[in-house]
Amino acid sequence: MGEIKEAFRNKTAFITGAAHGQGRATALALAKKGVRIAAFDLGKKISYPGYKLGTVEDLESLGAEISKLGGEYIYTAGDVRNDDDIRKAVHKTVQHFGQVDILFNNAGICAYGQAQDLSEEEWDTMLDINLKGAWLTARRIIPLMIEKKQGVIINNSSIAGLRGMNRLSHYAASKWGLTGLTKSWAIELAPHNIRVLSIHPTGVNTPMNDGLAELEGLTPKQVAERSAGNLIDVPWIEAEDVANAVVFLVSAEARFLTGSQFVLDAGLLTR
Ligand SMILES: NC(=O)c1ccc[n+]([C@@H]2O[C@H](COP(=O)([O-])OP(=O)(O)OC[C@H]3O[C@@H](n4cnc5c(N)ncnc54)[C@H](O)[C@@H]3O)[C@@H](O)[C@H]2O)c1
Repeated sequence: MGEIKEAFRNKTAFITGAAHGQGRATALALAKKGVRIAAFDLGKKISYPGYKLGTVEDLESLGAEISKLGGEYIYTAGDVRNDDDIRKAVHKTVQHFGQVDILFNNAGICAYGQAQDLSEEEWDTMLDINLKGAWLTARRIIPLMIEKKQGVIINNSSIAGLRGMNRLSHYAASKWGLTGLTKSWAIELAPHNIRVLSIHPTGVNTPMNDGLAELEGLTPKQVAERSAGNLIDVPWIEAEDVANAVVFLVSAEARFLTGSQFVLDAGLLTR
């Protein structure tokens, strides 16, 4: 384990949507390996999707947890749709830590609606946060990685980035978009020794799932089971399962993985 920790030492991860859920679990898992964490999150609720997003208090408590682990941490509250916010956060990260070695494009929202019922505003919000936000963030970090001739970018897609989903066409479109970004960036960035991968979780037990349940008037378990259909008999996987996968994918052990889709679906897509 000592050797693995050594490989992560002095590395910095920029994580969007880090306040709670999968982003937070991944921040903690990487911090345990010695990675310095730059967290970025909206830190407030927005009208669409309307469920509770991460808060500034969450970002602060994440810092407290990481410092208990002996890790280094900074955070910025900002929106992945806002280039100014991203530039400020990336600048702050470089000032504090000198570099960004790992980008986890994880910020995202989800909401239900039949295609014919969606408003343009709902469509745009979904695509702007989940897809355009990943590009806006990456384009400020890729030049830093190119300069250092190293880096790993992980895009958090979903099983919805590899299949159709009822009442989630805008969500699925954004997540298929991330699959396309992943494959294209992998081609563009391989000559610079930068790897790009997407992950595709089934339902994950996070505040997003709780929020969707609230919007639908269901329990979190019901909402997860409705859209899932996992082969392994679980309603969802945990945020830590995703975090463990990310730790492997960004590690030196995964050095020849790029452009591919890492499915974390308890067997769902096998059906
Ligand atoms: N929960 C699931 O079932 C599930 C399954 C597969 C994939 N995913 C994807 O995983 C990622 C993380 O989801 P989660 O389950 O942890 O959800 P979550 O809602 O628990 O966490 C998402 C985080 O993203 C942040 N965020 C949202 N919009 C933002 C914006 N505009 N700018 C900056 N930050 C913003 C939120 O504040 C929140 O902290 C998302 O992209 C999601 O689509 C989720």
